[in-house]
Amino acid sequence: MLWLLVLTLPCLGGSVPVTSGTELVGIVGGHDAADGKWPWQVGLWVFDPTSYQWSLNCGGSLIYPQWVLTAAHCIRERNPETRHIKVQLGQVRRSYNDSVQVARIIRHPNYSLENEGPEGGADVALLKLEAPVQPSNLVKWIRLPPASSAFPPGSRCWVTGWGLIAPEESLLPKNLQEVEVPIVADEICRQHYGNRITEDMLCAGSEGRDSCRGDSGGPLVCKWRGTWVQVGVVSWGSKCGLPNFPGVYARVTSFLPWIHLHIHSSP
Ligand SMILES: *[C@@H]1O[C@H](CO)[C@@H](O)[C@H](O)[C@H]1NC(C)=O
Ligand SMILES: *[C@@H]1O[C@H](CO)[C@@H](O)[C@H](O)[C@H]1NC(C)=O
Repeated sequence: MLWLLVLTLPCLGGSVPVTSGTELVGIVGGHDAADGKWPWQVGLWVFDPTSYQWSLNCGGSLIYPQWVLTAAHCIRERNPETRHIKVQLGQVRRSYNDSVQVARIIRHPNYSLENEGPEGGADVALLKLEAPVQPSNLVKWIRLPPASSAFPPGSRCWVTGWGLIAPEESLLPKNLQEVEVPIVADEICRQHYGNRITEDMLCAGSEGRDSCRGDSGGPLVCKWRGTWVQVGVVSWGSKCGLPNFPGVYARVTSFLPWIHLHIHSSP
């Protein structure tokens, strides 16, 4: 059921206004991100052959000059075609025009295409860009966390995306949204979600501060010894910004060997 929700309104979000009584307490802490503040953020433009339209329906992050990390569930086609995905870089506004081509799509082999979807774990995918990008003030790659790094509960991390601002009203932000979210202890997260929280997932967020549909594939970043590192990939959750149901992320440290295998061996 949860998964169906995730799939029917895939990725969107970033920030969702949460009402407390009648008061709007914020777009899950979110607000417009400044140019160049999150220079690794990318937008995934996906072509829908049925409607014949392109839409920005997921996020992602530049992790090496030619590689983007995103969520496996953002790649909807069973045999995805590279010409159906383009990547927007270095812009806080939605911008299809300058988006770049993808040369390869690598979904994690353990991602469950058939059954559980993101709740089955391994919700990560790599996109190889046609050419390496030149770093600039607006475009930089994000460091991956050392395998030994740990981010204790309460660590203040950030998540960014172009998802719905108000899912009920289908409001899409023009500008990239950002929100600070605390890391939630696995035990606490399992108290509410149960065993759906596996070793390769982590939880972050609090009431009114969360990622949401449309943010899928985007980065959860934390400061590690003074440098930003990407700790999670937006994956799934029960609605958005609910108390006790934080956002669920693919845990990047679980996938370091797989990421390095592809990045260092890819033709
Ligand atoms: C994108 O390109 C199209 C076609 O060239 C043009 O009509 C449109 O104004 C451009 N949009 C932006 C935001 O530059
Ligand atoms: C997929 O899952 C199996 C069983 O848990 C594991 O042995 C294997 O290493 C995983 N594959 C990758 C690429 O991580």
